[in-house]
This record gives sequence, C-alpha cells and structure tokens, in this order.
Amino acid sequence: MSNERVYAAGLLNEALDPSRQPDAIRSFLYEEETLIHRIVGGSRGLLPSVVDLGCGTGRHLAGLAGKLRLGVGVDYEASYIAEARRRAARPSLRFIVGEATRVPLGPVFDHALCLTSSWGTMSDKEAVLREMRRLSPRDGSRLLTVYAPTSVPARKEWYGRLGHPVEEVTDDYILTRDGFRSEHFSPQRVRALIGPCTLHPIGEIAFLVQA
Ligand SMILES: C[S@@+](CC[C@H](N)C(=O)[O-])C[C@H]1O[C@@H](n2cnc3c(N)ncnc32)[C@H](O)[C@@H]1O
Repeated sequence: MSNERVYAAGLLNEALDPSRQPDAIRSFLYEEETLIHRIVGGSRGLLPSVVDLGCGTGRHLAGLAGKLRLGVGVDYEASYIAEARRRAARPSLRFIVGEATRVPLGPVFDHALCLTSSWGTMSDKEAVLREMRRLSPRDGSRLLTVYAPTSVPARKEWYGRLGHPVEEVTDDYILTRDGFRSEHFSPQRVRALIGPCTLHPIGEIAFLVQA
C-alpha cells in the first residue's frame, strides 16, 4: 500500500490515540506543541496567519486558533479534513482538501507549517518545500518537524502497536509490512535538503526545523 492508502484507512486517528503511543512519542507530541506555541503563538501585536500542510484532523491549528488571525489547513485525505471542520470549527480557521505540492492560495501567510513528520511521509518533498517558501516568503517563517534517526526504536514500537509492523529500517526511512514509509533525517541530511535553517531538538525523537 502507498502512504496515501494507509492514511485513507485511518492511520492518523489510531496514531493520535494516547493509549497506543509509547511514552517517548507521547512526550514528543507534547513538546512539539509547546515549541510551536512559543514560536508561532508568542508574537505580540497583529496576530499571525498560518498555513498548515498535511494538517490531518487539524489539531495544531485548533490549539493555536485563539492566537491566529487566520489559519488554513490543507490535507489530501478528505475524511481528515471533514473531521477537522467538525472538531476545529472556529471563525479564524479554514480547512481544504488539497495536495501539499499545489496549494490553491497566495503568498499571504506569516508562517507555513508541516508538522509531526508529515513532510517525512510526503513523496515530493522538494515541491512541498517550494510551496512553503512561496506561501510564507520570510526566512525563518517555515516550520517542519522531522524525525531524528534516534527515534527509530520508539517509532517501531508505535507502528507495531498500531498494527503496522516494521519490515525494513534504513539510514533514511522505516517501511512497514503494508508499505507505509516514514523518513528520518540526520542534521546533515536536513541541511542538504532544506539549506540554511535552525534545528530545535525535541528530545531524542525529532527536530523542529525553522527555515
Ligand atoms: C503524520 S500525519 C500528521 C497530521 C497532522 N499534521 C498532525 O500532526 O496531527 C501526515 C498528514 O499529512 C497528510 N499528507 C501526506 N502527504 C500529503 C500530500 N502530498 N498532500 C497533502 N497532505 C498530505 C496525510 O494525509 C496526514 O494527514
């Protein structure tokens, strides 16, 4: 199966169930959220506008909603967008079904997000980065969370608990038996793919990349 099919079968909903997360993953999700709130939600004066690519069921924008002028979530999985519209119904938020490589919006955002390793599961990463740069042109305004190589044991346990046992692990990715592919990135690999950026470590599990 492709990542698109595994997501369509509901992987994200299972993965976000705290009772199925190893402790290290639960801590990572909490720390990631805290960091995002500090960077995006901490601005004084005019509230920022944010686009979130691979927004899933909208939890990051829902958490930030009171601190945003506008939040737009984009995801190719229609059932996640339907759930986001139900769960995160706020006047400042919009959710659209769409491809992260071709977002039908102009460059009007203060931040572009691609969080919780969404980017590491997207097939055309270069095109997604281009869209993030176009949508949010200011340096340092693009935020991506990528898994670190040291996250492999925790992710293997997590995917196993979700019924997606891991079949292959390489220096760059984990592949489950049913074909779900999730990448991890050394700091050198991040810089080779993204260019100049700041890396904020999130425990042993991930980096928040600010580019
Ligand atoms: C790891 S999940 C994270 C979801 C959400 N950011 C969160 O943290 O709850 C990755 C998300 O990216 C979406 N996705 C993957 N590739 C995509 C693409 N090319 N275009 C749009 N969405 C995509 C999936 O449907 C899924 O909802």
